[in-house]
Amino acid sequence: ARVDKGGHRHFMAKEIAEQPTVIAESIRHYLPAGGDSVILPDTDLDFAAVDRLTMVACGTAFYACLTAKYWFEQLARLPVEVDIASEFRYREPPIPARSLALFVSQSGETADTLAALRYCAGKADRILSVVNVPESSIARESDLALQIHAGPEIGVASTKAFTCQLAVLLMLALKAAADRGTLSADQLADHAAALRGLPSVLNAALDQNDAIRSAAGRLAQSRDMLFLGRGLMYPLALEGALKLKEISYIHAEAYASGELKHGPIALIDDQMPVVVFAPRDRLFDKTVSNMQEVMARKGKVILVSDADGIAEAAEGLWAGIHMPHVHESLAPIVYAVPAQLLAYHTAVAKGTDVDQPRNLAKSVTVE
Ligand code: G6P
Repeated sequence: ARVDKGGHRHFMAKEIAEQPTVIAESIRHYLPAGGDSVILPDTDLDFAAVDRLTMVACGTAFYACLTAKYWFEQLARLPVEVDIASEFRYREPPIPARSLALFVSQSGETADTLAALRYCAGKADRILSVVNVPESSIARESDLALQIHAGPEIGVASTKAFTCQLAVLLMLALKAAADRGTLSADQLADHAAALRGLPSVLNAALDQNDAIRSAAGRLAQSRDMLFLGRGLMYPLALEGALKLKEISYIHAEAYASGELKHGPIALIDDQMPVVVFAPRDRLFDKTVSNMQEVMARKGKVILVSDADGIAEAAEGLWAGIHMPHVHESLAPIVYAVPAQLLAYHTAVAKGTDVDQPRNLAKSVTVE
């Protein structure tokens, strides 16, 4: 079927706006109504028999894997290795017994990711994939291919596929936690309830569109930008910087907040915007002290946080973007929305080709 922009100016805008709907669809597939258990179709996969997970992907899908590492380790106490596909294979990494290999790819056709999958075939106990295209090569060559149900993604810069990948990976981590007995029934029910509430929380994040557009209008002239985050917000900072580079051509780098003092702080002056992702969670105070180091050097801080966080750290902010309160595990999915909108509106303000950025392809089928 032909896909149109549905009244939006760009496919990217449409795909950002669609996220509450497609995520709801994705969640319905793995978390059937009336229960708190994640159910994977047609498989006897049992994470109690797994000692290690190896995750491999490229680009935005790689940042989804990096986020999922925090979930699998914290919630399911499962050791995880994550790598970019183009590095993984040539390292010739050993694949220990009782390992699963998991490949994440929107298109299911990325050459490096497919080659990494073939390297693991016959070495790992099972090959899993998380894909958006069920008939793709990566899906066909997997023992178990989990669909993200995002629908066709046309914008070259991935948006709804990223958040749907995150939702599916979080549900897979919850299934692992249930199999391995690392979360109580109450904790699992708590996560299931939070997942079911995710579409409405995403809508509240989308309501910040105008505030983000006005901040973006003031960023369009920047030459460089930094993105900071800690814990689950660190991979999201990487994704935020990637989105901005891809479509606005502004140079951006992301750091774990705690690494700021080991180098990038030398870059801070009154010309440097610094986007900080920091929900008011147990890591907040540490991130705020990193943020204050930026402000002391006149960096322009854009803080993305909830009402409590912004109230606590309001002094000296260049801009504050208000996010709804969200269950700690789900924060990267919700905070992806302002990361996407910031890149989108900055690119629109600069007048670049948002859906077809220069030099990039939607699917890279050469190495
Ligand atoms: C290309 C796209 C990126 C994407 C990456 C991986 O570089 O421009 O947006 O994240 O490939 O694609 P995949 O289809 O494997 O997720």
